[in-house]
Parts: sequence; C-alpha cells; structure tokens
Amino acid sequence: MKIAIASDHGGFELKEQIKEHFSSLGTTLQDLGTCSADSCDYPDIAHKMVPTILNKQADLGILICGTGVGISIAANRFRGIRAAILYDDFTAEMAKKHNDANIMVFGGRTMKIEDVIRRINIFLNTEFEGGRHSKRLAKIEEGI
Ligand code: RB5
Repeated sequence: MKIAIASDHGGFELKEQIKEHFSSLGTTLQDLGTCSADSCDYPDIAHKMVPTILNKQADLGILICGTGVGISIAANRFRGIRAAILYDDFTAEMAKKHNDANIMVFGGRTMKIEDVIRRINIFLNTEFEGGRHSKRLAKIEEGI
C-alpha cells in the first residue's frame, strides 16, 4: 500500500516523526512537502495531496497542519476526497469503518506522536463496512 504524507510548517515536525517511525519499520512514505519549518500556506499543501489521491498515485494520504482543521477543509473541497481528523482512537476506527476516509489528518500543534502512530495503525487495521455507509458516501459524491 502506498501512503503519501504532507504538511505545512505547523505540521512539519510531526510529519518528520511519522516518516521516521515508518522508515524504521522498512516503509517509506511518499513525502509531498513541505521540506522545512519555514512558513507556507496549508491550501497549497492540500492541493498537492488531492491529485495524488484522486489519480491513485497513492492509496492513502496523511495531511498535517497546526490543528488539522485548515488542511482538512481545503482537501475536502474536492469530490472523491474524504479527509478525516483522527482526534481520538474511536474516531480513527470509525473514519475507516463508516466513512472510508482516504486522507488521515492530524494536528502538529495539538497531538503527540505516540497517539498519532496508534491512530494510524488503528485506521490501517480497520475495514470499511460498506452497506448503508456506501449509500451515504454516494450521497456525499452526488452533492446538492
Ligand atoms: C499555521 O500557522 C496554522 O494556521 C495552520 O497550520 C493550521 O493550523 C490551520 O488550520
């Protein structure tokens, strides 16, 4: 499974920690930036991740900004993107089971690395339930 990761400056440190963790297990995450702690705009970062997911260059994405809020709003503007802030373990499970999220979102200034790693693992080890949830996801795609 290919996983892409990207952050703004508010999520840069957490992004590097997540990459380090997976690299120590032999898994390389596809890093779409940013490449330093210098200030940048989170919509630009979300806009790099969106085509990577929609064009299936990666199966899943991880996006990080200071709180996770701005970057998830920016990513969720696009049809086919389901970006979920995994703010606790239960939500990490439900974001896959019920929402089939394709981007996990974290807050670099609000979350600890050990919690984030645990939530990523919960998400990756959970299956989408389908059924009534597929109908709801189809309604999201339909829009208004
Ligand atoms: C950047 O200072 C900060 O606003 C950004 O990382 C994010 O938290 C926005 O929602």
